[in-house]
Amino acid sequence: MTPTGAAPRGSAPVLELDRVTLEMGGRAILSDASLVVNQNEFIGVLGPNGAGKTTLMRAVLGLVPAASGAIRVLGETVERGNPSIGYMPQTRSALAGRRVRGRDFVAMAADGHRWGLPHHDAKARKEVDRVLELVGARELAMRPLSELSGGERQRLLLAQCLLGNPRLLLLDEPLISLDPHHQKNVVELVRRVQQELGITVLFSAHELNPLLHALDRVLYLGSGVAALGTVDEVITKPVLSRLYGSAIDVMRVNGRIFVMSGDVEVEKHDHEHEDDHGHDHGGGHAHGHDHGHTHSPAKTHGHTHDV
Ligand SMILES: Nc1ncnc2c1ncn2[C@@H]1O[C@H](COP(=O)(O)OP(=O)(O)OP(=O)(O)O)[C@@H](O)[C@H]1O
Ligand SMILES: [Mg+2]
Repeated sequence: MTPTGAAPRGSAPVLELDRVTLEMGGRAILSDASLVVNQNEFIGVLGPNGAGKTTLMRAVLGLVPAASGAIRVLGETVERGNPSIGYMPQTRSALAGRRVRGRDFVAMAADGHRWGLPHHDAKARKEVDRVLELVGARELAMRPLSELSGGERQRLLLAQCLLGNPRLLLLDEPLISLDPHHQKNVVELVRRVQQELGITVLFSAHELNPLLHALDRVLYLGSGVAALGTVDEVITKPVLSRLYGSAIDVMRVNGRIFVMSGDVEVEKHDHEHEDDHGHDHGGGHAHGHDHGHTHSPAKTHGHTHDV
């Protein structure tokens, strides 16, 4: 097993965390974590509710400052509004009720803030066409968002993220509220686009199995630790027990992996909520497992990502 901070030879680092500590509400979400994510990698970001998946993405976007350490994207210290990053936030439920045509929705992001281009600029139109083509949604985009299925809306959201040719995509829970069939389609679509463009994707999810065939490595968060490695390196009893702060078993059945705490499958809980911070991370969940939210500095210090 190699230290996960090391970049495989021949590939450029896209995202680097150098001894990063992230704090939220006076609590360390990540403690002294160092890792490197490379070009052309599909990284599955996993971990229980409140582990810090969203916070990490927001930190990479420069929206949450690191308490200590450095985060670099393509060698540059993070800053807000980095055009090299495409972001799909976790909060999306409001879209379902909107009558706006899919294409106009995608175009809104190409307009104004990001590009400084007028709405009907030919260059912006071409860029909208390009991203719709990439995700196979030219036809779909002629319909209003409210008439699309959740999976179809995801397709348009992905198109929106691809505007301006980002090198790093941060996709926060794209599978929420989708049935297994649509989950599979979304994962396959993201994988295809990721490979076609040679870009890097961080894809957070609550279940590993839908991502198993697409991902190159897993970034598993919990108890202030970030474990980055292959599935075989990270999805193990010792690593996950440390991240969950309790005894975890890993079972493999018919090509699927089940992460168990006693007889409870820890990844398999209802995670249907779509509001990002409207939910309670403070122990109000009825998921029947302990998220391991005991973050004494002594416990979390000095053992990040060393799988
Ligand atoms: N703005 C904030 N102020 C204070 N605490 C916050 C804030 N945002 C997030 N937190 C806390 O930081 C921790 C990490 O939250 P985060 O949303 O990153 O977790 P997550 O892994 O994305 O969870 P989920 O799986 O539920 O989406 C949680 O304990 C959360 O309550
Ligand atoms: Mg989240």
